[in-house]
Amino acid sequence: MFQPQLIKSILFLLLFFFIALPAQSLDDKTLENEKISGLLAKMTIDEKIGQLAQFNPDARPTEAGLKEIIRQGGVGSFLNAGSDRETKEKLQRVAVEESRLGIPLIFGRDVIHGFRTIFPIPLGQAASWNPLLVEKASAIAAREAVQTGVQWTFAPMMDIARDPRWGRIAESLGEDPVLAGELAAAMTRGFQGNNLSDPNRIAACAKHYVGYGAAEGGRDYNITFIPEQELRNVYLVPFKAAVDAGLATVMSAFNDLNGVPASGNAFTLRQVLRNEWGFDGFVVSDWTSMTEMINHGYCADEREVALKSLAAGVDMEMVSESYRNHVKELIESGQLDQKYLDQAVANILRIKIRLGLFENPYPVPEDKSVLLHPDHLQTARELAGQSLVLLKNKNILPVKPDVKTIAIIGPLADNPLDQLGTWAPDRNPDDSVTPLQAFRENAGGRKILFAKGMEKPRSMDRKHFSAAVDAAKKADVAIVFVGEDELLSGEAHSRAFINLPGLQEELIAAIAATKTPMVLVIMAGRPLTFPTQLEQADALLYAWHPGTMAGPALYDVLTGAIAPSGKLPVSFPRTVGQVPIYYNHRNTGRPPTADMLGIPLGTPEDPKGYVSNYLDADFTPQFPFGFGLSYTTFTYSALKLSTDKLLPGQELTVTVQLKNSGLMAAEEVVQLYTRDLTGSITRPVKELKAFRRVALKPGEKQDVQFVITEEDLAFWNAEMKFVAEPGKFEVMVGGSSADGDLLKAGFVLEKQN
Ligand code: GLC
Repeated sequence: MFQPQLIKSILFLLLFFFIALPAQSLDDKTLENEKISGLLAKMTIDEKIGQLAQFNPDARPTEAGLKEIIRQGGVGSFLNAGSDRETKEKLQRVAVEESRLGIPLIFGRDVIHGFRTIFPIPLGQAASWNPLLVEKASAIAAREAVQTGVQWTFAPMMDIARDPRWGRIAESLGEDPVLAGELAAAMTRGFQGNNLSDPNRIAACAKHYVGYGAAEGGRDYNITFIPEQELRNVYLVPFKAAVDAGLATVMSAFNDLNGVPASGNAFTLRQVLRNEWGFDGFVVSDWTSMTEMINHGYCADEREVALKSLAAGVDMEMVSESYRNHVKELIESGQLDQKYLDQAVANILRIKIRLGLFENPYPVPEDKSVLLHPDHLQTARELAGQSLVLLKNKNILPVKPDVKTIAIIGPLADNPLDQLGTWAPDRNPDDSVTPLQAFRENAGGRKILFAKGMEKPRSMDRKHFSAAVDAAKKADVAIVFVGEDELLSGEAHSRAFINLPGLQEELIAAIAATKTPMVLVIMAGRPLTFPTQLEQADALLYAWHPGTMAGPALYDVLTGAIAPSGKLPVSFPRTVGQVPIYYNHRNTGRPPTADMLGIPLGTPEDPKGYVSNYLDADFTPQFPFGFGLSYTTFTYSALKLSTDKLLPGQELTVTVQLKNSGLMAAEEVVQLYTRDLTGSITRPVKELKAFRRVALKPGEKQDVQFVITEEDLAFWNAEMKFVAEPGKFEVMVGGSSADGDLLKAGFVLEKQN
């Protein structure tokens, strides 16, 4: 009746159906949860607590002791387990092959702006306003990092930063929640890809959750007071964007947030992150940020630290050992519900499963061609080039073809370490290409003179000044590279004075006195104040700390191979006395008016006015958020709104014509801001809602279109509801947040009928 072949075919199909299909039809989450609950059921309480511990291996005196703890399942993660793969593989083999349940370790590392190929510091990357390129750079960083067994990075850092005194503004993505959110999401996608178990991807970590950048006085680790609306409308926004991009982990911050330290704050860690956002990854504390709650005066001792942190929602403890020392007794004494322990372990196991660590716990096969791959260096050059912000140009840049002798001067002209910036633990300055090298390698017919002028940016001696002055006198143009040493920037490196360190101001004055046309290139980890130097310079290019390919990127822009296209991600104060100064500020009841401008710094010639201004400085920044010049001119015209009465649920289409009315091909970052003129709480005078990088040839024009939704106009209001309130709005479009750079139009958001 049935042919044997037919029976075989039917059997094969049935076999396929029952073996292959269930793996696809049972969705990953179900499989994941089954695996997690299966493991939890087998784990002892000691093994559960072990998963919550993250060690810094240097803190362990002997390798044998360390291995024994791993064998007992007493630790679940390491940070900084050497920069080599062998150390990680050795420790991982003990966990996987010698511990009772073989649960793999997860290895974390600060891969903040590159691994061996170093990209601009994040504040510099933010100046590119280019999420796609930033994502590509993060993917490269992941690809390099996995070569040494790194599985997880403590990045992106997305603390909104409005205070350049704060050293960690260097690691931030600037002052605006929308720009920071777009870039944080891009970095998350870059690190993680769309499949966390891809061996060339690593888990991301959104930090520092939350409000760390609002440190009072710009002093690192200081307290923060942020009203809930401000927390939700500003500081939480980038974290939500990262969670929506599939974020794997979050790092709880050091700061006291409204009286409750962020590493023990159930409102932010449970209510917002878990209950409202549905985040299902895990939370790691910052380095001893949990036990520092004793210093904060929030916990009496380590036992209370363990109780409050676990109940609040910190899953893994970085370096300190309050969980290892107290969770078991807290649970056995009934003071802590076991469910908190099981939830934390489940969150950690979930990410280990998603990373594929149970199947592939060991480093990828080594491929020595990956680190510093030419494609990686080219991306670093491109991103550094797009991060450069031209702040002044009295027609001296790009360097003209008839310039035959260039003097390259300054402590950052040939400084392979400082150009890399802060937080790059796997950097090697030998990889750097400095500006001097780039100009010498591409000198062509030009003569390149060099004088460092000072050993380091913060040097206090003048012994190299005369050689620098001599070089400037012999040159057609002097390009002076100044700024900050990288170690004056970053964690615990806040500065009360934010002018150029050392005797750089004197060096610049000496070069200016030669009357040789002078270009200033400032490399720094923050906005600095340089009013006098701005006057003395014929052109000024802000370079942040541009990374491994600083030299070629600066050469490209200074010589005109590409036009500068960077835009400031943070406001630049005229003087530190203006700080905090940011563009999306409230209007106050007595807003200063344009006729209050032109006040000389520090000279109250004509003290007047009863408005919110200073007697001895203009109320406006030296340079506003979103500002950046080009080598061409961009003209904005014909701003059009699809309607001037927006009905609830409708979309508003905004169109503007952009023209490259200059002589050079260039890219412009078109920015769209809105203003909600009246609200149940006061509203910022403008808020960035969208932006787009547009490339145009000379004479070319393009209609640039944005679509604004009611959601874009929503904010957390007086009733703590996230709504767009009916009323008058303004739309502004242009090349910076300065009123003079924006075209404006109005519309009304109608009431819900
Ligand atoms: C540091 C930093 C944090 C970093 C961690 C691990 O103190 O605050 O950003 O990721 O420790 O190095």
